[in-house]
Amino acid sequence: PPLSTLINLEDFELAFEKSGAKKAWAYIHGASNDLHSLNANKSAWGKLWFRPRIMRKVRDINTKMSMFGQPSAMPVWICPMGIAKTAGEEGERALGGGAAKGGIIHCMSTSSSMPPEDIVTAAPKTYPFFFQLYVDRTREKTEALLARLNQLDQVKALFVTVDLPVVSKREADERIRQPTLKMSNYFGDANKSSVDKIGGGLARTTGNFIDNTLNWEDLAWLRKHTHLPIVVKGIQSAEDAKIAMQMGCAGIVISNHGGRALDNAPSTLMVLMELRRDCPEIFDKMEVHIDGGVRRGSDVLKAILLGARGVGVGRPFQCAVAYGTEGVEHACELLQDEVETAMRLCGVTDLEKARGDMSYLNCAELE
Ligand code: FNR
Repeated sequence: PPLSTLINLEDFELAFEKSGAKKAWAYIHGASNDLHSLNANKSAWGKLWFRPRIMRKVRDINTKMSMFGQPSAMPVWICPMGIAKTAGEEGERALGGGAAKGGIIHCMSTSSSMPPEDIVTAAPKTYPFFFQLYVDRTREKTEALLARLNQLDQVKALFVTVDLPVVSKREADERIRQPTLKMSNYFGDANKSSVDKIGGGLARTTGNFIDNTLNWEDLAWLRKHTHLPIVVKGIQSAEDAKIAMQMGCAGIVISNHGGRALDNAPSTLMVLMELRRDCPEIFDKMEVHIDGGVRRGSDVLKAILLGARGVGVGRPFQCAVAYGTEGVEHACELLQDEVETAMRLCGVTDLEKARGDMSYLNCAELE
């Protein structure tokens, strides 16, 4: 369908599914085992209700938020997602360029289809990016990658993904035994997709470089090789959120990898509520971000009212790559408009000031 007929983020996913690119759809949309966490992420947002305030003079509102010191039109970043070229020719350049046009930030993936040096040139010269790191079993490879990132002024934060020490079983992707998708990530041929006895899972057959010995003590090693603020992506309990804070991380991302890691991991909204209950102090000491199933501007508003400083959106943007930079920009515009509308209807005029103000929320259904 023409881009102008897509009016919300899910429309991008539906359009991609209909396009008939079966293997790419299985890779992008797929999640682990029985999809419980995938579905829970999304349905949880619908169980959180607002307490709208009225008569607030809502003509002028402010959606801007800085994240890790970087200004953004709204508190939204595009999630790191592997091999965006599976969705469209422009690949990650569409994500980076479209994010810049929409005023938000793209977090590049270690498993991108092109090097970060290429991706950043899709945006204006000083436009900020984040970078997501998978630590390689061969630590020297990670050190070399970090050295390259240290040369890239546009990269402003390092999101270290910790929820996927092994790639999980994503059955839709396994069932399509088609190893033909080309990619050229940083590690060259070693990470070509293939087919084996289990199936043709794109992430599984390319993800075996991830180091499953990674642990908290490795943060000291990382710090030796990067000057970037370190953000731990994949926090799923209050205990681990507290450790991240004690270890001096700049922030955390509450994430279950979009339901693509451990199935039956709690919805990320459940985890956010757990943090509010068990360690409310961390929200002022480091940046708390969240991703998973965020599809509406009202979901973004909910996350901010619960104290998050930023929200990641994944699959819809990957699907928007099918429409190139223009598609990603359009997705940004739709979301920006929804955030503004939700704020006005809820009586919130300034996102930054309302951050953590739970008086705008009714959490009864989640308790
Ligand atoms: C991902 N995700 C991911 N995460 C990460 O840290 N590194 C990666 O390379 C990838 N790759 C990836 C590919 C695809 C196709 C998807 C859909 C997801 C997880 C991603 O960053 C994020 O946590 C979830 O996608 C958020 O959930 P939603 O918004 O897709 O529901």
